[in-house]
Amino acid sequence: MLKKPDHVFDREAQWRALAQFVDRVGQRPQFGVVSGRRRQGKTYLLESLATASGGFYFGATEATEADSLRQLSTELTRYLKLPAPLRFADWREAVSYLFAEPRLRSVPIIIDEFPFLSKASPALPSILQHAIDRTAIPRKGPSLLICGSAQSIMGRLLAGQAPLRGRANLELRLRPFDHWIAARYWGISDPELAIMVHAIVGGTPAYREFVSGDAPGDRGDFDDWVTRTVLNPATPLFLEARYQLAEEVTDHRETGLYPSLLAAIATGSNTRGGIASVVGRKSNDLTHYLNVLEDTGLIMRVQDAFRSGRSIYRIAEPLITFHQAIVRTELGPLESGRAGQVWARKQPQFLAQVLGPHFEALCRSYTELAPAELFGARPSQVQSGVVTDSVHRTQIEIDVVAFDVPEPGKPPRVLALGEAKWGKVLGIRHIERLRRARELLTERGYDTRDTTLACYSGAGFEAGLSGSGERVRLIGLEDLYTPT
Ligand SMILES: Nc1ncnc2c1ncn2[C@@H]1O[C@H](COP(=O)(O)OP(=O)(O)OP(=O)(O)O)[C@@H](O)[C@H]1O
Ligand SMILES: [Mg+2]
Repeated sequence: MLKKPDHVFDREAQWRALAQFVDRVGQRPQFGVVSGRRRQGKTYLLESLATASGGFYFGATEATEADSLRQLSTELTRYLKLPAPLRFADWREAVSYLFAEPRLRSVPIIIDEFPFLSKASPALPSILQHAIDRTAIPRKGPSLLICGSAQSIMGRLLAGQAPLRGRANLELRLRPFDHWIAARYWGISDPELAIMVHAIVGGTPAYREFVSGDAPGDRGDFDDWVTRTVLNPATPLFLEARYQLAEEVTDHRETGLYPSLLAAIATGSNTRGGIASVVGRKSNDLTHYLNVLEDTGLIMRVQDAFRSGRSIYRIAEPLITFHQAIVRTELGPLESGRAGQVWARKQPQFLAQVLGPHFEALCRSYTELAPAELFGARPSQVQSGVVTDSVHRTQIEIDVVAFDVPEPGKPPRVLALGEAKWGKVLGIRHIERLRRARELLTERGYDTRDTTLACYSGAGFEAGLSGSGERVRLIGLEDLYTPT
């Protein structure tokens, strides 16, 4: 199998899938789709694959059909070392050529930024479909990989009634690095520092390049690192959140609404009604805009664990939360070089709106992958949720709720209820709150016989807490960074 080049960090499983695709080249016609949000390393991986396998790589740009066809023919002419330049009148001709040229059967053909092509030429997916269907009969044909970040286009390519549905034998979605992998990528071994950095740059590989590989040396360097990187107008990271939005959201109705929606979510108004009141619109009028943001993968809607029909929005990319909560209202002072003052002033927002919620999200990610020993079984679903306590007239917010695999005819089995606090020492009253929630859930018919009460803290635990009762688990920063 094709060896992964040393410069490609991690991405073992993804490389394996791509290398297997390459192994099958020439044996059968193939069609593969690679997708993922911007800056996740799709191009990096595919260019490396093309180099390692001698494949043909074409990176489309935003252009007219005629222009794109010209770019493709130039690249193909060069790749195939043809004496005379190729010319394609339309995509039908170009696709026929790609599928008929014998020298292109023994290598992968990689077309990156496919959405630029299909945007200018909406018939392209069905032209490809016809070409693929024709080659399927003599079982001879090329191995074509298409790639793109516009989730709205890439997702639809293979979903529902789309012409390419059912034709792909590889579907790869590149996600950000998991938090412990991101820590290694940034060369950070202190878990506290790793979480603080992850709360800003997440697991998006490109962001390390955006700051020329500058990582904070230690906890004491963190504030300085923030002011010299993400708050520094001279780094590409500074404006990245705005670029992401501009590149991903191509809907030109009311573009000003999108940053306001993101800002509302980032600053803690995450229900549809809450967002509506912050941006000053009726809840129903936001449906289209929230759907567009969800389609791009910049936000996600998550269901409450216990209240059916209730959902909240979360921002998927930490940098966007950071931008909306910290940077957006301070562009003036930041552009005039006052990052130090801004950063000092924004500490409460950083803790409450960025680090706190981010820590909760990391605790959920950790729990999703928890080994069976931790909570009695491997969780099948991890959410957050609200339990209503009508006796005490309160709502108990639960940061981490882990469910076992649902079984038909049986009540949902709760494996764990967890409280996550970045800056607080957790103690007996936190356990009591979780215990009360467990009691209420038992009354409501959930199976809580083996529910573990989990405390996740960035600041430690009161002495004796682990012995405070049945099935209590304490999870500290080191645990979050211990591969399970
Ligand atoms: N696995 C990796 N190992 C090392 N560096 C990586 C890796 N993945 C990405 N990078 C770095 O991130 C940069 C950005 O990645 P790349 O341009 O491939 O992202 P992309 O997913 O194609 O984004 P876009 O959708 O914006 O085109 C790369 O140039 C490289 O520096
Ligand atoms: Mg790319």
